[in-house]
This record gives sequence, structure tokens and C-alpha cells, in this order.
Amino acid sequence: MRIAQISDPHVSADGLPVHGLVDTDAALARVVAAVNALDPQPDLVVVTGDLAHDGDAGATARAHDALAALRAPVLVCAGNHDCGDAVRAAFGPFPGDAGEGGVVYAVEGHPLRLIALDASTGDPLHAALPAAQVAWLAARLAEEPERPVLIFLHHPPFDTGIGWLDSMGIAQGRHEMGTIIAAHKGVAAILCGHLHRPMRGAWYGVPVLAAPSVMDRVTFTGLRPDGSPVAAVTAPPGFVLHRWSAEGGLVSELRFLDGYAETWLAARPDPAAAPKD
Ligand SMILES: [Fe+2]
Repeated sequence: MRIAQISDPHVSADGLPVHGLVDTDAALARVVAAVNALDPQPDLVVVTGDLAHDGDAGATARAHDALAALRAPVLVCAGNHDCGDAVRAAFGPFPGDAGEGGVVYAVEGHPLRLIALDASTGDPLHAALPAAQVAWLAARLAEEPERPVLIFLHHPPFDTGIGWLDSMGIAQGRHEMGTIIAAHKGVAAILCGHLHRPMRGAWYGVPVLAAPSVMDRVTFTGLRPDGSPVAAVTAPPGFVLHRWSAEGGLVSELRFLDGYAETWLAARPDPAAAPKD
């Protein structure tokens, strides 16, 4: 099974450049074209949030229309810039909807079960996984203990070491989620966005992959512990191509446009080293 992952399109309501600088319409169109040019086509495209820059209904509808140009079926989750109701209106109804609020659902009918989680709260600077959502996840995983699962969620559960980004991370529920996914054994990975740069880590022994963004030309700084600037990164848009097989698990390849290459910043998954607060 092949899955293309696109993240953080940040489509604007009026089509004007975001921050007066980034033409996200053009960037998304380029990424859509790149994914459409894949041969063979992916079975699915997963878009890991920040569909719209300001979360309003018009921008989210514009994101939907742009993503509708993809040849493969599209699944989305909500980011901190999104409004869950707007995402639901533009992309819903969702199969396997948790009915817990937010954009939370489980997709069947593929070799992997795909589960969308939602840590957005309506406040772009605050993220949390509600207890009811974590309980819903536990119930879904308990239904089929041996079934391979791929979770997609805008916010990575791990800390990046970039202070201002981590301050917007998942403040509640991430350890409870970690305990549940560690017990299931079948979670192949958690696919995320939010960071606007590729990062790889692990959460309670499960690989976590944060995709590069569609919204290019955003500079990020770090990795000093206090988040103070070390270097600026300017990268073209990119996406990730995942391949999953029962024998080999999940293999993920970064694809940047314009021939740009960036290595993963790697953290070694270690099931014995569950993170603690
Ligand atoms: Fe974003």
C-alpha cells in the first residue's frame, strides 16, 4: 500500500500570499501536480492539517477544491490553524466518525486501518488530546488487537527542542495516547505535520514522522534548548511517500520539489525508553 502525505498547505481565503510573502495556492498546486505524476499512483493521500491558514470556511473550501485535483482519494485531519467545523463542512462527512467533536475518525477497507486524531482546540497556540478522544482510540484499537494501524495527527507528540514550537505542542493527553499505542503493538507509525520541516522521532516506541510543509519559504530556527536562533532553513515544498507492507512495515521517503534534499533529523526509536514529563 502506498500513501502520499501532504502537510500544512495553509491556503488563504482570498488567494493572496500568506504573510504577504508565500503563495500557498501555487505551492499546493505544485505539490498536487507532483503527487499526480507519481507512477504508480498512491492508494491514498493523507493531508496532515493546517489546510487553511486562518481556518475560515472559505479558505477551507478553497483547500478542498485544490486537493480535489488529486487523482488518489484524500483523507484529512485538522491542524491548529484549522476550524474543525469548517473542515467537517468542506471534507466531511467522515467514515467511522468518532462523534466526539473534532476531526476524529477511522477508515476501513485498506490493508492498514487509518485513524485520524485531532489535538486542535480552537486556540492555535494550545493543543490537547481530550480524554474522550483517547478513550475512543483505545476502544478502536481494542476491537482488532492484531490489525496494523496508521495514525495521522497534525501535532507531533514529541518535543522538538525548538522552544517556541514545543510551547504549541500537545499539552494534555499525549502520554495517555502513548500508553495506549504502546500496548496495541500494531501501530505502524504516527504521521504528523505542524513543524514545517521534516523530523523523525518516536513516541512510546512508535515511529513518528513529521512531514515537510507545502507552505514553503518559512524559516525555522533552533535547536538550542532555549529555542534561540541557530540557523534558518529555507526549503521548497515537499511531501512524503510512504510504502507499507505486512512483511516490511512502513518505509518513508521525503520528496522535495526543485531537487532539494534534506536529511531526517533522527531520533532512535527505543520501546524501552518511554518519555516522561
Ligand atoms: Fe502549519
